[in-house]
Amino acid sequence: MTLDIARLQADFPILKRQVHGKRLVYLDSASSSEKPIQVLDAMDRVYRESYANVHRGVYTIAEEATAAYESGRQKIADLLGATAPNEIVFTKNVTEAINLVAHTWARANLREGDAVVVTEMEHHANVVPWHILAEERGIELRWIPLTDDYRLDTTHLDRLLDGARLLAVTAVSNVLGTINDVPALVDAAHAAGALVLVDAAQAVPHMPVDVTAWGADFVGFTGHKMLGPTGIGGLWARAELLDAMPPFLGGGEMIRDVTKDGFTTNEIPWKFEAGTPPIAEAAGLGAAVDYLEAIGLDAVREHERQLTEYALDALRSRFDDRLTIYGPDDLDVRGGTISFLFDDIHAHDVSQVVDQEGVCVRAGHHCAKPLMRVLGVPATTRASLYVYNDEADVDALVDALAKAEAFFGI
Ligand SMILES: Cc1ncc(COP(=O)(O)O)c(C=O)c1O
Repeated sequence: MTLDIARLQADFPILKRQVHGKRLVYLDSASSSEKPIQVLDAMDRVYRESYANVHRGVYTIAEEATAAYESGRQKIADLLGATAPNEIVFTKNVTEAINLVAHTWARANLREGDAVVVTEMEHHANVVPWHILAEERGIELRWIPLTDDYRLDTTHLDRLLDGARLLAVTAVSNVLGTINDVPALVDAAHAAGALVLVDAAQAVPHMPVDVTAWGADFVGFTGHKMLGPTGIGGLWARAELLDAMPPFLGGGEMIRDVTKDGFTTNEIPWKFEAGTPPIAEAAGLGAAVDYLEAIGLDAVREHERQLTEYALDALRSRFDDRLTIYGPDDLDVRGGTISFLFDDIHAHDVSQVVDQEGVCVRAGHHCAKPLMRVLGVPATTRASLYVYNDEADVDALVDALAKAEAFFGI
């Protein structure tokens, strides 16, 4: 199945602009994706036609705004294979979703000496909340190491999971592109009596995800990486887990009753959604889900797989061993995130020089400093592909890198 990328590109207004007189080549979608007109329109429509606060009003536009908000929830629930929409809690982003689990489930269930298992390829969002808990509660953090081909080394997984209460793991690395075998990790964790939290920030935008088939307990996602707006993401969890968890933030919307003596909580998912939520953003996220489903997540994955192969070949044949790529070679277990070192040029310098050619790539530690330490580098340059990228974008990157090489006199 071949996608008509030119037709898709036409949906993204920003891709029509130029920078430094050059066509904009956006290769930073692992950081945040661009937005199609369908998403912009859905949000605009809420503000222009149906804007009011949700859930509390009985007048027409308040009901319309509530319907737009809740339809975003229904769409993401369907996309992720949730059993019911009340298993989706909207948060600001995946960072907040993971913090929600750390603040509620973990504080209610973990005691001094309990272990949480993470991996060396986690984003800080799936590390720091557990560090905070370790300091506060004395829990132990254990780390699944990496293999030489940048995958999880599960040789001693049983030992690491022995006595653990939680495995917190990313589905796809935002640096290496590695796609982890989530069902196998879930099976191993459950066999050891641990629950599993999956950081699916880099999976949901790029491939079919079915939380029920994964069998995980908590799955976090973030809207702005999947063609949706900023300010909205979420947590999927099984309803009985959410029901048993204490609330996260306190305030309006999350209560059933409040007296001078105390409060009772609302039903899930609203029990976890204190205050006015991101209303237009939920509508925008719903439109992003519609957009991705119209293409088909299988087709998105296949397109990125082909383009990743093209990019790896193009980079290696042009620059040979002057360019070091950090990530698996096997396309079955890697997504379209390509992190590299380019000779002796600092990653930030590479990024700045290719920007002059209109090419946007990210440089730095990518919020994965434990991983950078394992790799023995302070920073990498990262080009990340998405559904609106094509071979011409990859060619532009390769040509821009050749200019950087000439500029730095290599
Ligand atoms: C794997 C992973 N987890 C978490 C995050 C944090 O996402 P957000 O800033 O939307 O919470 C990112 C973003 O880069 C990511 O790639």
